[in-house]
Amino acid sequence: MIIPTYDERENLGLIVGRLHAALPTTHVLVVDDGSPDGTGDVADALASNDDAGRIHVMHRTEKNGLGAAYIAGFRWGLERDYTVLVEMDADGSHAPEQLHRLLDQVDAGADLVLGSRYVPGGTVVNWPKHREWLSRGGNIYSRVALGVKVKDITGGYRAYRREVLEKLDLAAVESHGYCFQVDLAWRALQEGFTLREVPITFTEREIGESKMSGGIVREALLKVTQWGLRNRIAKIKGVAAR
Ligand code: GDD
Ligand code: MN
Repeated sequence: MIIPTYDERENLGLIVGRLHAALPTTHVLVVDDGSPDGTGDVADALASNDDAGRIHVMHRTEKNGLGAAYIAGFRWGLERDYTVLVEMDADGSHAPEQLHRLLDQVDAGADLVLGSRYVPGGTVVNWPKHREWLSRGGNIYSRVALGVKVKDITGGYRAYRREVLEKLDLAAVESHGYCFQVDLAWRALQEGFTLREVPITFTEREIGESKMSGGIVREALLKVTQWGLRNRIAKIKGVAAR
Protein backbone atom coordinates (compact mmCIF):
# COMPACT_ATOMS: atom_id res chain seq x y z
CA MET A 1 0.00 0.00 0.00
CA ILE A 2 1.47 3.33 -1.08
CA ILE A 3 0.26 6.49 0.67
CA PRO A 4 1.48 9.80 -0.77
CA THR A 5 1.54 12.64 1.73
CA TYR A 6 1.85 16.37 1.69
CA ASP A 7 0.93 18.10 4.95
CA GLU A 8 -1.04 15.23 6.44
CA ARG A 9 0.51 15.22 9.92
CA GLU A 10 -2.73 14.65 11.80
CA ASN A 11 -4.24 12.26 9.26
CA LEU A 12 -1.40 9.82 8.76
CA GLY A 13 -1.47 7.99 12.11
CA LEU A 14 -5.25 7.68 11.95
CA ILE A 15 -5.31 6.17 8.47
CA VAL A 16 -2.46 3.73 9.09
CA GLY A 17 -4.12 2.69 12.36
CA ARG A 18 -7.40 2.02 10.58
CA LEU A 19 -5.61 0.09 7.86
CA HIS A 20 -3.85 -2.20 10.29
CA ALA A 21 -7.03 -2.70 12.29
CA ALA A 22 -8.77 -3.82 9.09
CA LEU A 23 -5.93 -5.75 7.42
CA PRO A 24 -3.08 -6.32 9.88
CA THR A 25 -0.53 -7.80 7.49
CA THR A 26 -0.54 -4.97 4.93
CA HIS A 27 2.75 -3.21 4.36
CA VAL A 28 2.70 0.56 3.93
CA LEU A 29 5.06 2.88 2.08
CA VAL A 30 4.55 6.54 2.93
CA VAL A 31 5.91 8.78 0.16
CA ASP A 32 6.33 12.22 1.68
CA ASP A 33 7.40 15.21 -0.35
CA GLY A 34 9.18 17.03 2.46
CA SER A 35 5.92 18.28 4.01
CA PRO A 36 6.52 21.58 5.84
CA ASP A 37 4.17 20.43 8.64
CA GLY A 38 6.46 17.56 9.62
CA THR A 39 4.45 14.66 8.20
CA GLY A 40 7.76 12.99 7.33
CA ASP A 41 8.76 12.88 11.00
CA VAL A 42 5.37 11.49 11.95
CA ALA A 43 5.86 8.76 9.35
CA ASP A 44 9.33 7.93 10.70
CA ALA A 45 7.93 7.68 14.22
CA LEU A 46 5.11 5.37 13.07
CA ALA A 47 7.67 3.19 11.30
CA SER A 48 10.04 2.91 14.25
CA ASN A 49 7.17 2.17 16.64
CA ASP A 50 5.81 -0.65 14.50
CA ASP A 51 7.48 -3.77 15.85
CA ALA A 52 6.10 -5.80 12.97
CA GLY A 53 8.11 -3.67 10.50
CA ARG A 54 5.13 -3.04 8.24
CA ILE A 55 5.66 0.69 7.78
CA HIS A 56 8.24 2.15 5.39
CA VAL A 57 8.96 5.76 4.55
CA MET A 58 10.35 7.46 1.47
CA HIS A 59 11.43 11.07 1.94
CA ARG A 60 11.51 13.20 -1.17
CA THR A 61 12.89 16.69 -1.03
CA GLU A 62 10.50 18.50 -3.36
CA LYS A 63 6.75 18.66 -3.86
CA ASN A 64 6.67 17.10 -7.29
CA GLY A 65 3.02 16.15 -7.49
CA LEU A 66 1.01 13.02 -6.87
CA GLY A 67 2.18 11.31 -10.07
CA ALA A 68 5.89 11.53 -9.37
CA ALA A 69 5.36 10.38 -5.77
CA TYR A 70 3.43 7.29 -6.89
CA ILE A 71 5.95 6.39 -9.59
CA ALA A 72 8.74 6.48 -7.01
CA GLY A 73 6.58 4.36 -4.71
CA PHE A 74 5.78 1.81 -7.43
CA ARG A 75 9.46 1.45 -8.25
CA TRP A 76 10.21 0.81 -4.59
CA GLY A 77 7.48 -1.85 -4.45
CA LEU A 78 8.57 -3.53 -7.69
CA GLU A 79 12.12 -3.81 -6.38
CA ARG A 80 10.66 -5.90 -3.57
CA ASP A 81 8.42 -8.95 -3.86
CA TYR A 82 4.99 -7.35 -3.43
CA THR A 83 2.44 -8.95 -5.73
CA VAL A 84 -0.27 -6.27 -5.44
CA LEU A 85 0.36 -2.52 -5.13
CA VAL A 86 -2.40 -0.31 -3.77
CA GLU A 87 -2.89 3.46 -3.99
CA MET A 88 -4.74 5.24 -1.19
CA ASP A 89 -5.06 8.87 -0.03
CA ALA A 90 -3.80 9.75 3.45
CA ASP A 91 -6.71 11.97 4.45
CA GLY A 92 -9.31 9.34 5.30
CA SER A 93 -11.34 9.81 2.13
CA HIS A 94 -10.69 6.18 1.23
CA ALA A 95 -11.85 3.70 3.85
CA PRO A 96 -9.30 0.98 4.67
CA GLU A 97 -12.30 -1.02 5.86
CA GLN A 98 -13.32 -1.32 2.20
CA LEU A 99 -9.91 -2.40 0.89
CA HIS A 100 -11.00 -6.03 0.86
CA ARG A 101 -13.47 -5.15 -1.89
CA LEU A 102 -10.57 -4.19 -4.16
CA LEU A 103 -8.36 -7.11 -3.18
CA ASP A 104 -11.18 -9.63 -3.66
CA GLN A 105 -11.44 -8.57 -7.29
CA VAL A 106 -7.70 -8.92 -7.79
CA ASP A 107 -8.01 -12.42 -6.37
CA ALA A 108 -10.89 -13.02 -8.78
CA GLY A 109 -8.58 -12.23 -11.70
CA ALA A 110 -8.71 -8.49 -12.41
CA ASP A 111 -5.39 -6.80 -13.24
CA LEU A 112 -6.42 -3.35 -12.07
CA VAL A 113 -9.26 -2.65 -9.65
CA LEU A 114 -10.62 0.85 -9.18
CA GLY A 115 -12.51 1.94 -6.12
CA SER A 116 -15.40 3.74 -7.76
CA ARG A 117 -17.68 6.48 -6.49
CA TYR A 118 -19.89 6.36 -9.54
CA VAL A 119 -20.94 2.74 -9.94
CA PRO A 120 -24.09 1.48 -8.18
CA GLY A 121 -23.34 1.28 -4.46
CA GLY A 122 -20.58 3.90 -4.64
CA THR A 123 -21.11 7.23 -2.87
CA VAL A 124 -19.55 10.58 -2.08
CA VAL A 125 -20.02 11.97 1.42
CA ASN A 126 -19.57 15.62 2.40
CA TRP A 127 -18.12 16.88 -0.84
CA PRO A 128 -19.19 20.37 -1.78
CA LYS A 129 -21.44 20.22 -4.85
CA HIS A 130 -18.92 22.08 -7.04
CA ARG A 131 -16.23 19.54 -6.23
CA GLU A 132 -18.50 16.61 -7.01
CA TRP A 133 -19.47 18.15 -10.34
CA LEU A 134 -15.84 18.78 -11.20
CA SER A 135 -15.12 15.11 -10.52
CA ARG A 136 -18.19 13.88 -12.41
CA GLY A 137 -17.44 16.25 -15.28
CA GLY A 138 -13.83 15.06 -15.44
CA ASN A 139 -15.04 11.48 -15.65
CA ILE A 140 -17.61 12.21 -18.35
CA TYR A 141 -15.01 14.11 -20.36
CA SER A 142 -12.49 11.28 -20.01
CA ARG A 143 -15.08 8.71 -21.12
CA VAL A 144 -15.93 10.68 -24.25
CA ALA A 145 -12.38 11.75 -25.14
CA LEU A 146 -10.80 8.34 -24.58
CA GLY A 147 -13.76 6.19 -25.56
CA VAL A 148 -13.62 4.10 -22.39
CA LYS A 149 -16.45 2.84 -20.23
CA VAL A 150 -14.85 3.49 -16.83
CA LYS A 151 -17.12 5.39 -14.43
CA ASP A 152 -14.46 6.69 -12.03
CA ILE A 153 -11.16 6.87 -13.88
CA THR A 154 -9.91 9.84 -11.81
CA GLY A 155 -10.23 8.15 -8.43
CA GLY A 156 -7.21 7.43 -6.31
CA TYR A 157 -8.15 4.23 -4.46
CA ARG A 158 -6.98 1.33 -6.58
CA ALA A 159 -5.12 -1.96 -6.64
CA TYR A 160 -2.64 -3.00 -9.34
CA ARG A 161 -1.37 -6.47 -9.92
CA ARG A 162 2.42 -6.06 -10.08
CA GLU A 163 2.54 -7.35 -13.67
CA VAL A 164 0.63 -4.24 -14.79
CA LEU A 165 3.20 -1.86 -13.37
CA GLU A 166 6.05 -4.00 -14.68
CA LYS A 167 4.63 -3.79 -18.18
CA LEU A 168 3.85 -0.06 -18.26
CA ASP A 169 6.63 2.33 -19.22
CA LEU A 170 6.63 4.30 -15.97
CA ALA A 171 9.52 6.48 -17.14
CA ALA A 172 7.26 7.81 -19.93
CA VAL A 173 4.53 8.98 -17.52
CA GLU A 174 4.62 12.77 -17.43
CA SER A 175 1.45 13.51 -15.46
CA HIS A 176 2.17 15.43 -12.30
CA GLY A 177 -1.25 16.08 -10.83
CA TYR A 178 -4.37 13.98 -10.44
CA CYS A 179 -4.57 13.20 -14.17
CA PHE A 180 -1.88 10.69 -13.27
CA GLN A 181 -4.79 8.46 -12.25
CA VAL A 182 -6.39 8.70 -15.68
CA ASP A 183 -2.98 8.26 -17.30
CA LEU A 184 -2.25 4.94 -15.61
CA ALA A 185 -5.70 3.45 -16.12
CA TRP A 186 -5.61 4.49 -19.79
CA ARG A 187 -2.17 2.92 -20.28
CA ALA A 188 -3.29 -0.28 -18.58
CA LEU A 189 -6.39 -0.51 -20.80
CA GLN A 190 -4.33 0.07 -23.93
CA GLU A 191 -2.02 -2.76 -22.90
CA GLY A 192 -5.07 -5.01 -22.72
CA PHE A 193 -5.17 -5.47 -18.97
CA THR A 194 -8.55 -6.16 -17.37
CA LEU A 195 -9.96 -3.35 -15.28
CA ARG A 196 -12.80 -3.71 -12.83
CA GLU A 197 -14.60 -1.14 -10.69
CA VAL A 198 -15.92 -1.80 -7.20
CA PRO A 199 -18.15 0.60 -5.25
CA ILE A 200 -16.54 2.67 -2.50
CA THR A 201 -17.66 5.38 -0.12
CA PHE A 202 -15.53 8.50 -0.61
CA THR A 203 -15.74 10.73 2.46
CA GLU A 204 -14.33 14.25 2.28
CA ARG A 205 -11.44 14.82 4.67
CA GLU A 206 -12.17 16.31 8.11
CA ILE A 207 -8.61 17.47 8.82
CA GLY A 208 -6.31 19.53 6.61
CA GLU A 209 -6.84 20.76 3.09
CA SER A 210 -7.13 19.33 -0.40
CA LYS A 211 -4.16 19.95 -2.68
CA MET A 212 -6.43 20.25 -5.71
CA SER A 213 -5.63 23.36 -7.77
CA GLY A 214 -6.42 25.17 -10.99
CA GLY A 215 -3.13 23.92 -12.40
CA ILE A 216 -4.13 20.33 -11.71
CA VAL A 217 -7.45 20.82 -13.53
CA ARG A 218 -5.76 22.49 -16.53
CA GLU A 219 -3.13 19.77 -16.80
CA ALA A 220 -5.87 17.12 -16.74
CA LEU A 221 -7.98 18.81 -19.40
CA LEU A 222 -5.00 19.30 -21.70
CA LYS A 223 -3.58 15.81 -21.25
CA VAL A 224 -6.86 13.92 -21.60
CA THR A 225 -7.64 15.89 -24.78
CA GLN A 226 -4.18 15.08 -26.18
CA TRP A 227 -4.45 11.37 -25.40
CA GLY A 228 -7.91 11.22 -26.95
CA LEU A 229 -6.83 12.97 -30.15
CA ARG A 230 -3.67 10.89 -30.46
CA ASN A 231 -5.75 7.74 -30.09
CA ARG A 232 -8.21 8.82 -32.79
CA ILE A 233 -5.45 9.79 -35.20
CA ALA A 234 -3.73 6.45 -34.62
CA LYS A 235 -6.99 4.64 -35.38
CA ILE A 236 -7.59 6.62 -38.58
CA LYS A 237 -4.02 5.93 -39.71
CA GLY A 238 -4.53 2.26 -38.92
CA VAL A 239 -7.62 2.15 -41.14
CA ALA A 240 -5.86 4.07 -43.92
CA ALA A 241 -2.92 1.66 -43.88
CA ARG A 242 -5.13 -1.36 -44.47
N1 GDD B 1 3.76 13.16 -1.92
C1 GDD B 1 2.78 13.93 -2.38
N2 GDD B 1 3.10 14.95 -3.26
N3 GDD B 1 1.51 13.71 -2.00
C2 GDD B 1 0.54 14.52 -2.50
C3 GDD B 1 0.80 15.57 -3.39
C4 GDD B 1 2.16 15.80 -3.78
O1 GDD B 1 2.50 16.70 -4.55
N4 GDD B 1 -0.38 16.16 -3.70
C5 GDD B 1 -1.33 15.50 -3.02
N5 GDD B 1 -0.78 14.51 -2.28
C6 GDD B 1 -1.46 13.55 -1.41
C7 GDD B 1 -2.27 14.14 -0.28
O2 GDD B 1 -1.47 14.40 0.87
C8 GDD B 1 -3.30 13.05 -0.05
O3 GDD B 1 -2.79 11.99 0.74
C9 GDD B 1 -3.56 12.52 -1.47
O4 GDD B 1 -2.40 12.87 -2.21
C10 GDD B 1 -4.81 13.12 -2.11
O5 GDD B 1 -4.72 14.51 -2.10
P1 GDD B 1 -6.00 15.47 -1.84
O6 GDD B 1 -5.57 16.86 -2.11
O7 GDD B 1 -6.66 15.15 -0.56
O8 GDD B 1 -6.94 15.01 -3.04
P2 GDD B 1 -8.49 15.36 -3.22
O9 GDD B 1 -9.29 14.81 -2.12
O10 GDD B 1 -8.65 16.77 -3.57
O11 GDD B 1 -8.62 14.46 -4.53
C11 GDD B 1 -9.55 13.52 -4.91
O12 GDD B 1 -9.50 13.62 -6.31
C12 GDD B 1 -8.30 13.22 -6.92
C13 GDD B 1 -8.48 13.41 -8.39
O13 GDD B 1 -9.65 12.77 -8.76
C14 GDD B 1 -9.29 12.08 -4.59
O14 GDD B 1 -10.36 11.30 -5.12
C15 GDD B 1 -8.00 11.57 -5.18
O15 GDD B 1 -7.88 10.20 -4.89
C16 GDD B 1 -8.02 11.78 -6.65
O16 GDD B 1 -6.79 11.43 -7.26
MN1 MN C 1 -8.58 14.37 -0.20
